Amino acid sequence: MNAASAQRPDFSPFVDGQGNISRPTDFLTSPEWVHIGGWAVVNEDGDDNGFHNVYTTHDVVAHFRQNGVFPDGAVLIKEVRGSTNGQLTTGSVHWAAEPAVWFVSIKDTVGRFPNNPLWGDGWGWALFAAADPSKQIAKDYKSDCLGCHVPVKNRDWMYTYGYSAVLGSKAGAYEVAMSSGEVDGRGSDPEAASMGGSTDATEIDLAASKAAFSSRCASCHSDKVGGKGLGPSLAGLIGRRAGSLEGYRYSDAMKSADVVWTPESLDAYLLDIKGFIPNNKMVPLFPAGVQDAKQRKLIIQYIQSLPSE
Ligand code: HEC
Ligand code: HEC
Repeated sequence: MNAASAQRPDFSPFVDGQGNISRPTDFLTSPEWVHIGGWAVVNEDGDDNGFHNVYTTHDVVAHFRQNGVFPDGAVLIKEVRGSTNGQLTTGSVHWAAEPAVWFVSIKDTVGRFPNNPLWGDGWGWALFAAADPSKQIAKDYKSDCLGCHVPVKNRDWMYTYGYSAVLGSKAGAYEVAMSSGEVDGRGSDPEAASMGGSTDATEIDLAASKAAFSSRCASCHSDKVGGKGLGPSLAGLIGRRAGSLEGYRYSDAMKSADVVWTPESLDAYLLDIKGFIPNNKMVPLFPAGVQDAKQRKLIIQYIQSLPSE
C-alpha cells in the first residue's frame, strides 16, 4: 500500500483530512493500476495535440463492470502527454512523449468536504503539471473542470464511453447528438439555438447571449470584475489591450500581441484562436474556437454588456 494511506485510511490514500488531493505516482508501474483507455486529440489542422491516457485501479474496474457506477474512493487519473512523430515501418506514426499534465478525480459519494472548492457533484477534482508534479494547481472545480464535463453529466460527469473495452457495456456509447454540430464537443445551448434566423442585434436577447457565454466560455473565464479562472476575467474586455489584465499570468504570445479587444478583433480571435495570435495559451485548451457566426455574435454581445468596474 502507498505510504500516504496513513493520512486517511477510512477514505483514500490520496486525500487528507482537509480534502487536499495528492497525485498517485505509481499508476504506470504498480500492479494495482490499469490503463482503461486513451484519447488522441487532433486540432483543426490535423496536427496532433497529444495523447490522454486514463488509469484507475482493478477494484474500481470490477465494481464498475458489475454495478455501472464508480465506488466511493475510486480514483481516475488522466495523464496528458505531448507527441512525437516519424516515419516508421508501419507508416507515419505519432506516439506519446513526456507527460505534461495530470487530471485526477476521486469519487466521493458522501459529500465529505462541502466547503472545499475542489469537491462537489460527487467528486474531488485536481490538476497537476510537470513543472511541479507535487503541487495541486486547480482552484475551483466549477470554473476549472465542470464546464467541459457537462456533456457527460448524466454519466456521473465522466467520459466513460471511452473506456468500454475495459469497463464493459455499462460504460455506454458515444452519442453524437451531445454536441450541437460544432467540433468542440461542449454542451449545446437550447436557448441560443432557438434564436431562429435573426441576425439583428437589437433582437438578440441578453438571456440567450448569457447562456451562450455560460456554455462556451464560463468554464475558464469569469464575467465578474476581479473574478478568477483558468483564463483571465472577461469583464471590461472591450477596449482593453490583449494580455493586459493585472494579476493574470498570460503567455508571452498574448502579452506581446499588438491587439486591442473590440467586437471585431474578438470575432476574428474566436474564429481562429491559433491563427489570430499564434502560441497563445487558449490554443490547446479551446482549439476549435466558435465556428458558428450566430454563437460568436451572442457571446460578443454578452461580453460587451459586462461592466468594467
Ligand atoms: C477543456 C475541457 C476540459 C477541462 C477544462 C477539463 N476536462 Fe477533464 N476531460 C475532458 C474531456 C473531453 C475528457 C475525455 C476526452 C479527452 O481526454 O480529450 C476528459 C477526461 C477527464 C478524466 C478521465 C475520466 C473521464 O472523464 O473520461 C478525468 C479524471 C478528468 N477529465 C478530470 C478533470 C479535472 C479534475 C479537471 C479540472 C482540474 C478537468 N478534467 C478539466 C475535458 C476537460
Ligand atoms: C478551457 C479554457 C478556456 C475556454 C473554454 C475559453 N478560454 Fe479564453 N482564455 C483561456 C486562457 C488560458 C487564456 C489566456 C491566454 C494567454 O495568456 O495566452 C484565455 C484568453 C482569452 C482572451 C484574451 C483576454 C485578454 O485579457 O487579453 C479572450 C478575449 C478570450 N480568452 C475569450 C474567450 C471566449 C469569448 C471564450 C468562449 C467562447 C473563451 N475564451 C473560452 C482559456 C479558455
